[in-house]
Amino acid sequence: MTRPCFTFFLFITILLQLNKFSISLLEQVPSPPLPILPLPTYSQLKWQQREIIMFLHFGVNTFSNSEWGTGHESPSIFNPIGLNTTQWAHVAEEAGISLMILTAKHHDGFCLWPSKYTKHSVISSTWQNGKGDVVQEFVNAATDKGIDVGIYLSPWDRHDSRYGHDLLYNEYYLAQLQELLKKYENVREIWFDGAKDPSAQNVSYYFTDWFGMVKELQSSINIFSDAGPDVRWVGDEDGAAGDTCWSTINRTSLSIGSPNITSYINTGDPRGTDWLPAECDVSIRPGWFWHKSESPKKLSELLDIYYKSVGRNCVLLLNVPPNTTGLISENDAHRLKEFRSAINTIFYQNIAESSYVKVSSQRGGKEGGFGPENMLDSDHLWSYWAPKEDNKENDHWIEIWGKDDGRLRFNVIRIQEAIGLGQRIQRYEIYVDGKGIIKGTTIGYKRLHRLDGDVVHAHFVRIKFIEAKGVPLISSIGLHFDPFWHSRFTPT
Ligand SMILES: *[C@@H]1O[C@H](CO)[C@@H](O)[C@H](O)[C@H]1NC(C)=O
Ligand SMILES: *[C@@H]1O[C@H](CO)[C@@H](O)[C@H](O)[C@H]1NC(C)=O
Ligand SMILES: *[C@@H]1O[C@H](CO)[C@@H](O)[C@H](O)[C@H]1NC(C)=O
Ligand SMILES: *[C@@H]1O[C@H](CO)[C@@H](O)[C@H](O)[C@H]1NC(C)=O
Ligand SMILES: *[C@@H]1O[C@H](CO)[C@@H](O)[C@H](O)[C@H]1NC(C)=O
Repeated sequence: MTRPCFTFFLFITILLQLNKFSISLLEQVPSPPLPILPLPTYSQLKWQQREIIMFLHFGVNTFSNSEWGTGHESPSIFNPIGLNTTQWAHVAEEAGISLMILTAKHHDGFCLWPSKYTKHSVISSTWQNGKGDVVQEFVNAATDKGIDVGIYLSPWDRHDSRYGHDLLYNEYYLAQLQELLKKYENVREIWFDGAKDPSAQNVSYYFTDWFGMVKELQSSINIFSDAGPDVRWVGDEDGAAGDTCWSTINRTSLSIGSPNITSYINTGDPRGTDWLPAECDVSIRPGWFWHKSESPKKLSELLDIYYKSVGRNCVLLLNVPPNTTGLISENDAHRLKEFRSAINTIFYQNIAESSYVKVSSQRGGKEGGFGPENMLDSDHLWSYWAPKEDNKENDHWIEIWGKDDGRLRFNVIRIQEAIGLGQRIQRYEIYVDGKGIIKGTTIGYKRLHRLDGDVVHAHFVRIKFIEAKGVPLISSIGLHFDPFWHSRFTPT
């Protein structure tokens, strides 16, 4: 009795298995496309997503009202009686900033932590009777709020007598680097510049030794310099990247402190073999250190900077200097808050989300998982639209249409590439109701176009990709309305 039943059961099972097999052949989920090298590291991707980070220039210059101290300042002038690093972190938090970088030592050589290798530090100051440690307080306050920390340790030292004696000085510098990176944990960025005494240009900095030691002590750190290895300088101190800005470049063409590289690092290199994205440093005030007579930039200036840095595939490093009390001035804090609130206002609503988005083709067809809806979700890295690779004409495009014949009202266009698979796009054009309005080059992590003139009321927007190093992979797209732009022309 049981035998026929068992045979039947076996027969059905085999049938089901066969069926499953043929289904799986038909419905294989398409794999993601191969990357275009070079690629970012994990730490570089985390850095890129921060978008805005904060620099804090603080030290004896704050008290001597100067930008470049001479190195002859008496440590006793350093006395920030109301120092409150929690206030610094609070200001950063309110501005949506996730990384703060402090000048542990500037060119004047005064150290904000009690280094055992010099007396020219907080040890010799009147502040907390020489028992204080600004770096420690800074790290504690930031960490308490979940904000990451970074450190700047100036290679140029106008105080220490070892400067100019290459071996002795490089040993001293390296000793301090080890001291900092052993004592303060989880430093996410370390900042190097190539500034030297103008009368001692023959001085050598042993960057290779320093960088090796940095990575040995903290491997997830990003090293910033003119030439990386993880983050590069953008080539100016105005916070402006090139209109074309590649995250790729040839490190072999770069040397730290060399004046011939500024235009190359401003734009990067489409053929570059190294992933080395740019960071745009600028101060919220005219100077880097706090001066009583200076005030913060206007909101419109900060927004300009935002469009030229974050909006051109870079991270903005905005300096906000604490004052002689040891606090970030109220007007700076206020301006920063306005800045964050303006950015939130502009990008809170994405008009593309309530529109029809059409694309030229999609990898793996309708059910392939690479459709245009991926450009409208909140994942701006790993969820992306991918077109078919076999398109002979290489005609890849995106169209955004107003629903129910409605008009799209916007003055900012945002496009983001899935940079986890490399930076690809070299040339694209944007049309509004069939009329060409933008001829663009690079996109990268984020590209923002703030449109000249009046607000657009259009039926459709078309983005056409003309040239790329592989098929374009778009992780996010947006049409936004910036009420701060040309607002004097648009009655609200
Ligand atoms: C430090 O600043 C924080 C944040 O602004 C504030 O809550 C706290 O009371 C301040 N601490 C002191 C001692 O003033
Ligand atoms: C740099 O040049 C100056 C003057 O020629 C000399 O005294 C000094 O020793 C040199 N320093 C280094 C590090 O070579
Ligand atoms: C800058 O000059 C150095 C030395 O002449 C050279 O090796 C390097 O390639 C130049 N870099 C650029 C970007 O021109
Ligand atoms: C960068 O390196 C690539 C590969 O070696 C090379 O093709 C390209 O010309 C280099 N770029 C510059 C500006 O030299
Ligand atoms: C520093 O900023 C704080 C906060 O705005 C303010 O209370 C203090 O008076 C300022 N100090 C100076 C010297 O301006």
